[in-house]
Amino acid sequence: MADSEPKPDRYAVIGHPVAHSRSPMIHEVFARQTGENMSYELLDVEPKDFEVATRGFGAAGGKGLNVTVPHKPAAFELATELSDAAKRAGAVNTLSYLPGGAMRGDNTDGVGFMHDLTQNHGQSVAGKTILILGAGGATRGILDPILEAAPAAVLIANRTPERAAELVLEYQTDVPLSACRFDDLRTRDLSDIVINATSAGVRGERPPFPPDCIGAESFCYDLAYGLKGTPFVAWALEHGAGKAVQGWGMLVEQAAESFQIWRGKRPDTRALLEGIAA
Ligand code: ATR
Repeated sequence: MADSEPKPDRYAVIGHPVAHSRSPMIHEVFARQTGENMSYELLDVEPKDFEVATRGFGAAGGKGLNVTVPHKPAAFELATELSDAAKRAGAVNTLSYLPGGAMRGDNTDGVGFMHDLTQNHGQSVAGKTILILGAGGATRGILDPILEAAPAAVLIANRTPERAAELVLEYQTDVPLSACRFDDLRTRDLSDIVINATSAGVRGERPPFPPDCIGAESFCYDLAYGLKGTPFVAWALEHGAGKAVQGWGMLVEQAAESFQIWRGKRPDTRALLEGIAA
């Protein structure tokens, strides 16, 4: 009998809950397109079991993990080496197993977001005013590349204003960066780009923002995504946003960046992006 094909290299997404994740489908498309011999699994792991499960996957021959909610900060702690993007975000969404039990942590969320915003949606950030709603982990993941793209100003609004204020203090930048509460937004100028980085929609809660913070010129971007759109996108269009998009493209682009880290090839994301637009 002829030798069978070598076993596929194993990858997975680890999260809790994770059953809804589209990452296996995305990586299957990428693997087929690039001819890479790999498999991609779902690992639903509670926070208390994260370290054991992560080490175990590597010990069993796993090559890499995508890390999603709520494990990104724990993956940051566990990684034995970190990319600059992971260091700046304080979170890891891509783990690669290295020889000798070492683990490299990357964060592709920020670069995936910027790729989607600028390449797929044609928005430039330079010279624009940016409003970010939310001051949690998702905001940390995107703030650095936004600041590097030289916007005119960035305002972070959060339900708990102290958290936004703390975040602003952490960043040293030439870009005017400020924090406020949602209610303060009523009195401020409209922003060119408005980004929802809260988890309100994911929790099934209505967007708690004053509608005055968006206008006909606003490009609204929801970091969340859903098969039937998202509450923020619906809310933004209802209140007169010029354009509002969900974060499906960010998911696809961050996955493409992870794939490149693991396999050394950046897949073509167009087919997946067109699929969702259809
Ligand atoms: P993530 O990693 O998704 O960013 P997180 O770090 O817990 O998760 O942050 C969640 C963000 O969504 C925070 O900005 C949170 O606001 P608080 O700092 O005030 O908690 C915001 N958020 C969650 N539910 C919200 C709601 N119902 N209304 C407004 N903001 C909400």
